[in-house]
Amino acid sequence: MVSFKELGLVNTREMFAKAIKGGYAIPAFNFNNMEQLQAIIKAAAETKSPVILQVSKGARNYANQTLLRYMAQGAVEYAKELGWEHPQICLHLDHGDSFELCKSCVDFGFSSVMIDASSLPYEENIALTKKVVDYAHQFDVTVEAELGVLAGVEDEVASEVSHYTKPEEVVDFATRTGCDSLAISIGTSHGAYKFTPEQCTRDPKTGRLVPPPLAFDVLDAVMEKLPGFPIVLHGSSSVPQEYVDMINKYGGKLPDAVGIPEEQLRKAAKSAVCKINIDSDSRLAFTAAVRKVFAEKPAEFDPRKYCGPARDLMTELYKHKIINVLGSDGKAE
Ligand code: G3H
Ligand code: 13P
Ligand code: ZN
Repeated sequence: MVSFKELGLVNTREMFAKAIKGGYAIPAFNFNNMEQLQAIIKAAAETKSPVILQVSKGARNYANQTLLRYMAQGAVEYAKELGWEHPQICLHLDHGDSFELCKSCVDFGFSSVMIDASSLPYEENIALTKKVVDYAHQFDVTVEAELGVLAGVEDEVASEVSHYTKPEEVVDFATRTGCDSLAISIGTSHGAYKFTPEQCTRDPKTGRLVPPPLAFDVLDAVMEKLPGFPIVLHGSSSVPQEYVDMINKYGGKLPDAVGIPEEQLRKAAKSAVCKINIDSDSRLAFTAAVRKVFAEKPAEFDPRKYCGPARDLMTELYKHKIINVLGSDGKAE
């Protein structure tokens, strides 16, 4: 058993309370490798933004949980080395799907876990979430839960339609589970294809897809029922078209990839939405940069020569999100 406190990490309690009060959101960036982690920490340190490092079950399988844990511990030291005196870094399990997985992360030094039982019937979601909360809270680890189902793929949980969160359930759910934050479904979804072309209109000038707006009425109703309660948005990548264009230009194939417009995320960040999850945008930036090097310098075979530019582009992306979308810069001096 190792406490996250020994690793220099923080849980989400204070971060979220300040974010709601201050009208901004904390970035929750997924990482699977060293370059992503370096880019996240560099961006957070340079902007003095609190940050949540997210590890999915897939990331854990890909990179090894022991290695990821020590990487997060190293990230705290790296942040200090970069001149960030009091780094506020949370290590969070993304989409935990069982009590055992959540427990293992709590025991292993994570400061926050998500139990995603949103695909289960309501009472089963409550029972499993409460079990995780009861365990995690003994160690001051905070717990995110989910109500409502996002369209697309949630790790291994597939759903073709989006089921918005029912505002009439949130008080009962939060009270009976004791969860610290709640992920809700208001029209976001995972991945780089958040809407079908049929769900969008097309900008006549650019020919680009224009997605439908998020269900802010559902968010408003949730906030009315649970005033001041921390709300989380998953599936919040914007799928920047410059990366999609770069990928397509240099041999990729991502037709009609589309995300959540930034102005909608800006609006959400000012509300009780205090954690915004971004993974796909980082994958797109990485892939775009690597493809460019491969296309322009076919003789290159030193991984640093293509992972380096990928890391630089991701750093730029993370800083942009922090400063121009979430507004969390300068909140962890
Ligand atoms: O919510 C999904 C995250 O983007 C993690 O994706 O399961 O492929 O690591 P992953
Ligand atoms: P995106 O696929 O939109 O980046 O969402 C990531 C996410 O929700 C991780 O839990
Ligand atoms: Zn998610």
